[in-house]
Amino acid sequence: MSITINTLDDIEGMRIAGRLGSEVLDYITPFVKPGVTTGELDRLCHEYMVNVQGTVPAPLDYAPPGYTPFPKSVCTSVNDVICHGIPGDKVLKSGDVVNIDVTVITKDGYHGDNSRMFFVGQPSILAKRLSDITYECMWLGIAKVKPGARLGDIGHAIQQHAEKAGFSVVREFCGHGIGKVFHSEPQVLHYGRPGTGEELVPGMIFTIEPMINAGRREIREMPDGWTIKTKDRSLSAQWEHMILVTETGYEVLTVSEGTPAPAAIAVADAVPA
Ligand code: MF3
Ligand code: CO
Ligand code: CO
Repeated sequence: MSITINTLDDIEGMRIAGRLGSEVLDYITPFVKPGVTTGELDRLCHEYMVNVQGTVPAPLDYAPPGYTPFPKSVCTSVNDVICHGIPGDKVLKSGDVVNIDVTVITKDGYHGDNSRMFFVGQPSILAKRLSDITYECMWLGIAKVKPGARLGDIGHAIQQHAEKAGFSVVREFCGHGIGKVFHSEPQVLHYGRPGTGEELVPGMIFTIEPMINAGRREIREMPDGWTIKTKDRSLSAQWEHMILVTETGYEVLTVSEGTPAPAAIAVADAVPA
């Protein structure tokens, strides 16, 4: 087993997948309002992917070893749900925070995986701060990406920032290699020690998708076989981008018109492509 070094053709295919994945999040943004159900958000994303983009929603019927097939087309993770929330009849109300995680598969077979946080109506001060710090964590991780850096540099940057804010890093789920396969090597941990782990090489593509809890880091698995919540019922936030290692640094692949600007905290020492 080893980490794929993508060809120029693969990279071009992944740029397209990344843009399409990001455009689904752009599309759904105005629908995230009080009164909407997570099932309706799923339905809208599904229709957009299948009928407008001609992409396939990767989560639908996705069944890694030990899992039942995921029954919906996106993940909607509300408040204390860390990840893999299953859309359904839950009605969103003002003050809720929701992560929507979209993965498209293009006609050429490439995956575009990304997620953003959304505030339903007005967020609490804590929810806003948790989402902001998590976004900064993702970007501080991204800013470490360049040839010769190591995976532990990414994890360390994320962990430091989260814990300095008094928050905790979820350990059970991580970023991942991605391409024609949804989840592959490497595992991109969101915690770690600088100078440890696999060395980054141009052509690698992986996600960075920190899950940060306002309280303790422990998780609880729900009986539906998918939904993961915080054990202490504290809020959790997540952001996700797909990143290409370039000759000089990184390229974010999951970009479109609606992509939020990079976190200012990470731009100073960042080495963009
Ligand atoms: N998109 C998620 C990730 O970032 C994976 C979701 S798998 C699903 O890796 F089956 F829950 F959709
Ligand atoms: Co992912
Ligand atoms: Co994802």
